[in-house]
Amino acid sequence: MPRSPPGVAACETAPNIALIKYWGIRDPERNLPYNSSISVTLDRLRSRTRVRFRPGLTADEFRLNGVRMGGGPLGDVRRFLDRVRDLSGVTDHAEVRSTNNFQTASGLASSASGFAALAGAATLAAGLDLSPRQLSQLARLGSGSACRSVFGGFVEWRRGTRPDGRDCYARPLFDEHHWPELVDVVAIVANAPTKVVRSASAMQASVRTSAEFARRQRELPARIDALRRALKNRNGPALFALIMEECDSFRRVCETTTPSLNYLTRTSREVLEAVRLENAVRGEAVAGYTHDAGAHVHVFTLRANATRVRARIQAIRGVSATHVLHAGPGPRILRVTRG
Ligand code: PMV
Repeated sequence: MPRSPPGVAACETAPNIALIKYWGIRDPERNLPYNSSISVTLDRLRSRTRVRFRPGLTADEFRLNGVRMGGGPLGDVRRFLDRVRDLSGVTDHAEVRSTNNFQTASGLASSASGFAALAGAATLAAGLDLSPRQLSQLARLGSGSACRSVFGGFVEWRRGTRPDGRDCYARPLFDEHHWPELVDVVAIVANAPTKVVRSASAMQASVRTSAEFARRQRELPARIDALRRALKNRNGPALFALIMEECDSFRRVCETTTPSLNYLTRTSREVLEAVRLENAVRGEAVAGYTHDAGAHVHVFTLRANATRVRARIQAIRGVSATHVLHAGPGPRILRVTRG
């Protein structure tokens, strides 16, 4: 890990949407998951983070979309910077400025892109030159899903089996040009509640209390293999059926958690129903839904069906907007200046 004096660096990353969900931590200290997960890094949505280590600063500062943050978000950033200081030997505190061009904490995975961007910018500003694998492992410690946003395209986060977590990191499966016909129509649901319980705590409640959790773990290896195959063969109907099965399994675990975790609004449920109906009318899966720990719904379909699917979703009362997204590139380094 070559080092040079600390300075300033900026990095831009994209959120990812999980097709196979990470839900459950087997080692909270190292943030090691129970199961592997697969995601698509998205285009158009972006987090930009600039980190400047400043001698004389008495504490780390964090601004998100121009607003000075305190409490939990600041604590998370400070803990993360401590790890970067440990790795690099830098002792200065840092100024962190982040912007998202999309809603924060709404189920559009701002923590994934946020921590991936912070990992990229903070390590470069600290003079570290990490490999993508090392960066993925570091980002994982900020937020599990962030380890996947270190790559573009279709990404698998392998759970690994080692207790020290050295075999637990994300790796690219296919790049963003692999399947250009695949479209993600995101239904933005009006009045989506802001996340109150962090996903990392919510999933641990599921591990402890949901009777569905163990069953889901047993089903996952076969579903992950099938999903990898569907992506490789660019098989739309197979992919759409699998992501709905997976999303329903994730939701069952959430709903059977005590206290119950309900991320969807009535509008979100109408979007799911519209997709089921469209598939029933067409006689095959022409689209598939998925959602994370939030109310917005991602509807995957093929370009030939995108206009129709989008119009169908946009017509649902309570859907305030739809975004048409695709697989997008990995992180971009915007600026590195040594101190
Ligand atoms: O990375 P976290 O701690 O925000 O958890 C993400 C959990 C899900 O978004 C629901 C699933 C996933 O794999 O991204």
